Amino acid sequence: MNASHKTTLENYRVDRAKSGYLQRSVNITKWLKGKEIDLAVILGSGLGDYGKDHSDTMEIPYNSVGLPIAGVPGHAGILRYSKIGRHGVLLFSGRKHLYEPFVELDTTLMAVRAAFHAGATTQILTCATGSVNLKYRPGQLVLIKDHINYLGVDPTQPFVAMTNVYDEGLRKDAQCVASRLYGRRLAEGVLTSKRGPSFETPAEIKALRVLGADMAGMSTIHEAMALKELGARVLGISLITNYGAGIVPGDISHEDNSKQGEKAAKRFSHLLTSIIGRLK
Ligand code: HPA
Repeated sequence: MNASHKTTLENYRVDRAKSGYLQRSVNITKWLKGKEIDLAVILGSGLGDYGKDHSDTMEIPYNSVGLPIAGVPGHAGILRYSKIGRHGVLLFSGRKHLYEPFVELDTTLMAVRAAFHAGATTQILTCATGSVNLKYRPGQLVLIKDHINYLGVDPTQPFVAMTNVYDEGLRKDAQCVASRLYGRRLAEGVLTSKRGPSFETPAEIKALRVLGADMAGMSTIHEAMALKELGARVLGISLITNYGAGIVPGDISHEDNSKQGEKAAKRFSHLLTSIIGRLK
C-alpha cells in the first residue's frame, strides 16, 4: 500500500470516529453500569414494543444516550435492555431512515455501530418489506440471505468483502427454531432497498424480480454493510407487510403496512425470543 492510499484509509477512520458513535457506546455502557451486552436487535415496523413486558427490562429515550430520534410514525426512539436467555440484549425501538430530511448516512448507522462497540458483536436486523417474489405473502417472515444495494450509498471504507453478510450459522440457528415452532423452514430471500421514501413503481418491482430480488425495503442493507465492516455477525429478518407494487391492484399504504406489522407482532416476537434463546 503506498503512503497516499494509507492516508486516505486513515481519513475514513477519522471521519467515522468524528461521527460520534464511540461516545454513544460509552453513554450506553454507563447507563447499564457494567451489565453484560452481547447482542442487539433493531426493531422494525410492528416490533417496536418487543421486550417491553420482559420482567427485567430497562428503558431510556434515545436522546438521553445521544442517539438520533427517528422521524417516522411507529418508530418510538426508545432503547431497552433485557436479559434474554443467556444474552444481554440491546433493543432499539426506532430506526433513523436515510429518507428523512437532511439526514446523514453516519447518523442512520449510529445505533448499530454504538451497539457493536458496547459489546453487541451479534446483531439482529428486522424490517418491513414489500414482496417482489410472487410466492411471498403479506404476513410472511423471511430470512435475509443476501442483498442488492440500491440505497445509493455505501457506508464502508475500501474494500470490504460483501460475502456472507448475513451469517450462515445464524440462519441455520433460525431455521432450526422455525422448524421446531412451525414444522417448516422459513423462506430465505434477497433484499433490495432503495432510499425512499416513495414506494416502487410496478415496473421497478418487475425489474427487481428479474435482477434476483425477493423483497423490497428502505433500510437494513447499509446497517448490515457497516456491521460486516466491523466484523459483526448479522441475522436479518424481514416481515412482508404488502405485495410489491403492481402485483395486486391498488396503492400500497404505510398505514395498511403498519397494521400488518401489528398483526404479525406476536408471532414475530415469539420467533425472535426463540431465536435469541438458541444463539450461542
Ligand atoms: N417497498 C419498499 N419498502 C417497503 C415496502 C415496499 O413495498 N413495504 C414496506 N416497506
